[in-house]
Amino acid sequence: MTAELAKGLEDIVVAESELSHIGGEAGTLVYRGYDVEELAAGASFEEVLYLLWYGDLPTREELRAFTDTIASERAVDDGVIEVLETLAAADERPVAALRTGVSMLSATDPETDRSPGDAEAARRTGRRIVAKVPTVLAAYDRLRRDKPPLAPREELSYAGNFLYMLTGEPPGTVAEETFDMALTLHADHGFNASTFAALVIASTLSDMYSSVIGGIGALSGPLHGGANEDVMEALLTLDESDMTAREWVVDMVERDERIPGWGHRVYEVTDPRAAILRAKLEDLAEASGETTWLDHITTIREYLVEEQRLLEAGIAPNVDFYSGSVYYQLGIPIDMYTPIFAMARSGGWVAHVLEYQADNRLIRPRGRYTGHQDRTFVALDERG
Ligand code: COA
Repeated sequence: MTAELAKGLEDIVVAESELSHIGGEAGTLVYRGYDVEELAAGASFEEVLYLLWYGDLPTREELRAFTDTIASERAVDDGVIEVLETLAAADERPVAALRTGVSMLSATDPETDRSPGDAEAARRTGRRIVAKVPTVLAAYDRLRRDKPPLAPREELSYAGNFLYMLTGEPPGTVAEETFDMALTLHADHGFNASTFAALVIASTLSDMYSSVIGGIGALSGPLHGGANEDVMEALLTLDESDMTAREWVVDMVERDERIPGWGHRVYEVTDPRAAILRAKLEDLAEASGETTWLDHITTIREYLVEEQRLLEAGIAPNVDFYSGSVYYQLGIPIDMYTPIFAMARSGGWVAHVLEYQADNRLIRPRGRYTGHQDRTFVALDERG
């Protein structure tokens, strides 16, 4: 039997899921039936995590218990900090340091080696990972800037505590709300590459750490989570050049270069997350009076809309077109954007692993062999 080749698994459905749905033609995204726009505006990231993991929005009491548990599990072992110090001395990229840090966490997790069928233990492990990821990431950023890591503060929200551990100051309301919203928008997104990587690992009944580490690895590439850093780097390069934003984008189009932050395998129109973050970027620009990034982005988008070629091909702004500038306005270092995406998506990976393992089937596709046939082996001595 010759199976049809599905390069990049495009349009291949590998499993059923109740977690999130992308309306590629309409430009919509829902988590468990709720529009992401409503969740981003009205629910905290912790509520969204609960929704993804348990299926329904929590009551006030359920949310309090859930948030308290996560907050109480934020601290990491000294051994993890020591490894992060070594990585900082070697100038490791933050997303790679996060990957190693998460791997270290498994050493002190009492339930890493749970029996594969123990879903509740997997859920607890997932919760511990999600609780500790911000601590690892913030500690790494401080260590590489020769600052001591800060202990997490239980009374702060997930978003607020991360910004506190990063900067040393509890964030203002606008920064905390904006960051919380960005976390919600990145929490889940169907069977994207990193989620699928996590599921391939989970399907072998491996542990939750391995899935999350695999997810981070897949996310770190420029075609996936790395694009938010590329967008901001491009904007900075443009800003430092003699070009106007319009000249820059015209030049990119003429040279047939990919515009970072545009295009998506599923969306054929603007990614709804991009539209939400654009509004946030406008708020931040107005509040700070710093409109450079918004202006550049607006000019680039306006030219591409006017030019129409990309839009006609179904290539439109994605979430990364705006997230980089939002984080930049919040004062976050550029190479932290991708690991921050991983921080938000960890909750989604855990949700998918729990869902997939509840009805597990080993993921094992085939490749089409196009190599030699029937070659005759010649021993090394005779090959000269
Ligand atoms: N700018 C200009 N052209 C683009 C483009 C972009 N950002 N993204 C895709 N294209 C073009 C390709 O050049 C290709 O053109 P061709 O058929 O003439 O060769 C065509 O669109 C299809 O591209 P392909 O890479 O096959 O599509 P894909 O579904 O694999 O691409 C992405 C999805 C996300 C990898 C792609 O759009 C991309 O590289 N975007 C930039 C990176 C990015 O923002 N990633 C974050 C996604 S959330």
